[in-house]
Amino acid sequence: MQRMSGLSGPRWSVDDVAYDRVDRRAIADDLDWFYLIAASSFVEILSDLYARNLGEYYAGDDEVCAWLAHKWGPEEIQHGEALKRYVLTVWPDFDWQRGFDGFRADYAPYCQTALLGPTRALEMAARCVVETGTSSFYAMVRDASPEPVLAQVAGAIRDDEIGHYKGFYRFYRAYQRREPHSRWRVAREIWRRVAEVDSEDAYLAVKNVSLVHRSQTVFTRDDFRTFRNRVRGWMRLHYPFRPAVKMLLRPLDLPASFERLTVPLIVGGARRIV
Ligand SMILES: [Fe+2]
Ligand SMILES: [Fe+2]
Repeated sequence: MQRMSGLSGPRWSVDDVAYDRVDRRAIADDLDWFYLIAASSFVEILSDLYARNLGEYYAGDDEVCAWLAHKWGPEEIQHGEALKRYVLTVWPDFDWQRGFDGFRADYAPYCQTALLGPTRALEMAARCVVETGTSSFYAMVRDASPEPVLAQVAGAIRDDEIGHYKGFYRFYRAYQRREPHSRWRVAREIWRRVAEVDSEDAYLAVKNVSLVHRSQTVFTRDDFRTFRNRVRGWMRLHYPFRPAVKMLLRPLDLPASFERLTVPLIVGGARRIV
């Protein structure tokens, strides 16, 4: 895919993706993939809402706002567009718009500027947690995908998410210099966000894919747990635990010797949890 640099928006385009070469037979019958990719497309496309909230939260910081508006936001929305087009290429009967409308209505109340971090530095640390989660997720999709075009799209998205992590981390460092927080305080914020990663957005996205796909009226948390348990097996095989843990700990700026000791322990714990 073509790459461009700078603040001039996404580094690749949905039009670069060879959707006409998708090998439908390799993936179309696997509904777990359908649920995973359709749900991800919902969450990504809703980035216009998250971008607006973050823009309000960081109002006055022109560098952050310009990066959010011209780089981060358009790239996240493009992730959603690329995945949406993939879904409609492989599963053309899916009423994507109806599912997305349901998700937007369900999830919008959770997207409020007032719910963002207690300080600007801590919100940047929290954003690093989110981008650790997304970059790890797409690395896993890239490596586990049974279909090459999906692997290519996931790889391009993963690279963007790593870029987002680096951007938020840079801003985090700048805020920490201006309004320092103790390592302990940052660790608490990181932990709070890690515990939240499994919260509403994934459940509501999968729920709304399912409601439309199966023409159901209810989708319970037990249904979600059943889905999650099913995909857990292969996720555990492909999840990049070690890089993810290192990214999570990076804002704590731990001494190298301490990090060498803790990373293997946390990776072991994370493997068991996932
Ligand atoms: Fe994304
Ligand atoms: Fe991102």
